[in-house]
Amino acid sequence: MVKLVRWGILGTGRIADRFIVDLKKVPGAEALAVASRSYTRAEFFAAKHHIPQIYSSYEELVKDPEIDVIYIATPHNFHKEHTLLCLTNGKHVLCEKPFAVNAKEARQMIAYAREKNLFLMEAMWSRFNPVYQRAMQWVNEGLIGEVRMLKADFGFRTAWQPEGRLLNPALAGGSILDVAVYPLALASHLFGLKPVAIQALAHVGASGVDEQAGIALKYANGQLAVLSSAIRTRIPNQALILGTEGLIWLPVFWRARLAVLWRSRKMPRITWGGIGYQYEAAEVGSCLSQNKIESTLMPLAESLAIVEIMDQIREKIGMQYPGE
Ligand SMILES: NC(=O)c1ccc[n+]([C@@H]2O[C@H](COP(=O)([O-])OP(=O)(O)OC[C@H]3O[C@@H](n4cnc5c(N)ncnc54)[C@H](OP(=O)(O)O)[C@@H]3O)[C@@H](O)[C@H]2O)c1
Repeated sequence: MVKLVRWGILGTGRIADRFIVDLKKVPGAEALAVASRSYTRAEFFAAKHHIPQIYSSYEELVKDPEIDVIYIATPHNFHKEHTLLCLTNGKHVLCEKPFAVNAKEARQMIAYAREKNLFLMEAMWSRFNPVYQRAMQWVNEGLIGEVRMLKADFGFRTAWQPEGRLLNPALAGGSILDVAVYPLALASHLFGLKPVAIQALAHVGASGVDEQAGIALKYANGQLAVLSSAIRTRIPNQALILGTEGLIWLPVFWRARLAVLWRSRKMPRITWGGIGYQYEAAEVGSCLSQNKIESTLMPLAESLAIVEIMDQIREKIGMQYPGE
């Protein structure tokens, strides 16, 4: 039986506006309330998405006794503060990626969720996409032999708006935290949490954040992840999982619609479907129904490991955020 899970939405920006549409597709999920710093924005969002309860502060939302879980959709630098706010008030949390700005914050969030015995998960939605999961099944079945290398890129060209979330250091902007987090999550899923070597180069632009980065990770038995991220350069958004017996191509791997498996002298195997934020929301519902405070598919140790790697990358390129 599907357990009823009552959701609150914290923040009314671009991603909240998309997440809520897919949340409605999840059996048992009910979007009960939305909070914005502005009543007008909350009212607009609630009317658009048919949400019954409106709050003009995040503090009011977390005190609503009807809500089980809160989806945090604020800029990266608020993830820790808003996660702790929700946990303090007894709410389970699905927190947008990147999980935190740095590992110090991530550790605090994880420790507090465990202390409070509440569910916490990074909204690494790609992980729950059925096409992505099929590709991982191919890997686990050994269809491409031993995986030796991952090549994965995520980038786009945003307009020059230095005050905006992507380019503003005060909002923890930059390509590494915003988009490299996806290829890094794919690398950790394939090769494990602890690379033995990390190399990185980046261009830090006029606003003071990394506009593009090249990252190479080496793992214990010689596997390599060769990754790139960009917010001011269009790059192909794809992943190639390269094995001794074949390869898997995932175009736009972070919201995969298509996966193609090539093996020598065999017909390509293709799967499609996927996309959508409903799968991560369904994972939250499934964990809560089982009284789990952590997802097995996107565990907190992995979210922490990814942030630790991003810390090391930023150290190498000499990038710190205000207050770090
Ligand atoms: N999973 C995905 O596919 C995906 C895609 C895009 C972004 N994200 C993640 O989601 C988070 C939000 O990204 P977004 O693109 O939705 O950002 P956005 O459009 O700028 O929205 C962020 C929202 O956060 C709230 N907020 C609170 N304090 C703020 C402040 N000082 N400055 C700006 N906004 C503030 C605002 O809501 P109110 O004004 O209503 O309070 C704002 O609308 C980021 O961490 C990002 O990495 C995930």
